[in-house]
Amino acid sequence: MSPILLRGGRVLDPSSDRDEVADVRIEHGRIAAIGRGLPSEGAEVIEASGCYVAPGFVDLHSHLREPGQEYKEDISTGGRSAVAGGFSAVACMANTQPVNDDPATTDFILDRAKHDSPARVYPVAAATKGLRGEVMTEMAALIEAGAVAFSDDGKTIMDSGVMRHVLEYSRLVSAPVITHAEDRTLVAGGVMHEGVVSTRLGLPGNPAIAEDVHVARDLMLAEFTGAHLHVAHVSTKGAVELIRRARDRGVHVTAEVAPHHLALTDEAVCDYDTHAKVAPPLRSEADRLACRAGLVDGTLDAIATDHAPHAQHEKELDFAEAPPGMIGFETAAAVTLDLVRSGELSPLEWVRRLSTNPARILARPGGSLATGEVADVVVIDPEQMWIYDPAKGFSKARNSPWAGCTLTGRVRITIVDGRIVFDVERGVLL
Ligand code: DOR
Repeated sequence: MSPILLRGGRVLDPSSDRDEVADVRIEHGRIAAIGRGLPSEGAEVIEASGCYVAPGFVDLHSHLREPGQEYKEDISTGGRSAVAGGFSAVACMANTQPVNDDPATTDFILDRAKHDSPARVYPVAAATKGLRGEVMTEMAALIEAGAVAFSDDGKTIMDSGVMRHVLEYSRLVSAPVITHAEDRTLVAGGVMHEGVVSTRLGLPGNPAIAEDVHVARDLMLAEFTGAHLHVAHVSTKGAVELIRRARDRGVHVTAEVAPHHLALTDEAVCDYDTHAKVAPPLRSEADRLACRAGLVDGTLDAIATDHAPHAQHEKELDFAEAPPGMIGFETAAAVTLDLVRSGELSPLEWVRRLSTNPARILARPGGSLATGEVADVVVIDPEQMWIYDPAKGFSKARNSPWAGCTLTGRVRITIVDGRIVFDVERGVLL
């Protein structure tokens, strides 16, 4: 593995608040040096002027579908899509088939990832057996097998007693519990956000209160147990406010928001477009703006894609029948760079939310360009315009609301463990 010199980029390292034009030299899988005019001897030189050079992105929330639903995605294609989006590491949710609720499945995912994925893969194990919300999984054994967190994502743990015990036990293994906060009795079969658009379209609504009520419950349980609660895909103004207040009183809570909840509203469903169907749903403009404000003021710590691949024939069903979810790895950077262009986030703070904060939440390496750190690095051209065509991407799936859109900001290079694994000119290199 030859050394790499990234020359003349805008180096953004939130871990040290560094934001300056410099070279980055990578050797033996580590950040060897940062400075001006670094020697290029023996190194592969990448001209990075005009680009951001940042620690690789870390995705707290994705669905890689393996084992069991490889017709939608697998760890190899998901991992390729991740690095094409600048993610050097991705956490994958447990709603596979079988569910990742026992160490053998966690082991399988890690083994597959080691051989097939250019991105690091961090399995999130189920909090309850079969995601049924009834019986807790063997948390210690799952952590020993390599799980990084616990979640019934895709399903909600409705039983407050079970959630209490999940949180209590999570403290013993020092891992966060990630909540998919949608009270099922309030969702009540809703398939899009409840509001004027759902009324106009005649589709059953999923109200914001379904999320708010559940986030409130989980925050109270986190406060009671002292456990680390992580709120997945926050989508409502109410949830942002509840998290902000809980944080103020010292509750151990972190939270993420997805690019689609920052960029789109329920208006995207206007012609029954199933690519705009997601759980939790795209919401009102007030919710969208509250999510952006929450991300800016630090109430929401991280941007997480909720990359959720589905096959084309599934998304061709009627709106009410189609599965929720959209792919997100390859569009996340461009879609969220809008917050930088609008002046809401500085480039450094944008990187913090895509890399440093999620790495910290999972207590995994990455998120830093400090000398001696593991060399997971992304090079992004923030100005490059491109037309996104999912068919030319690396995921097996094409269910993106941004298909055919012109996006601004392109990942040029992704480096994992000191090796170039994605180059926009050459594709994925394994
Ligand atoms: O839209 C979603 N899709 N939300 C989820 O929570 C699950 C995910 C999936 O697995 O498809």
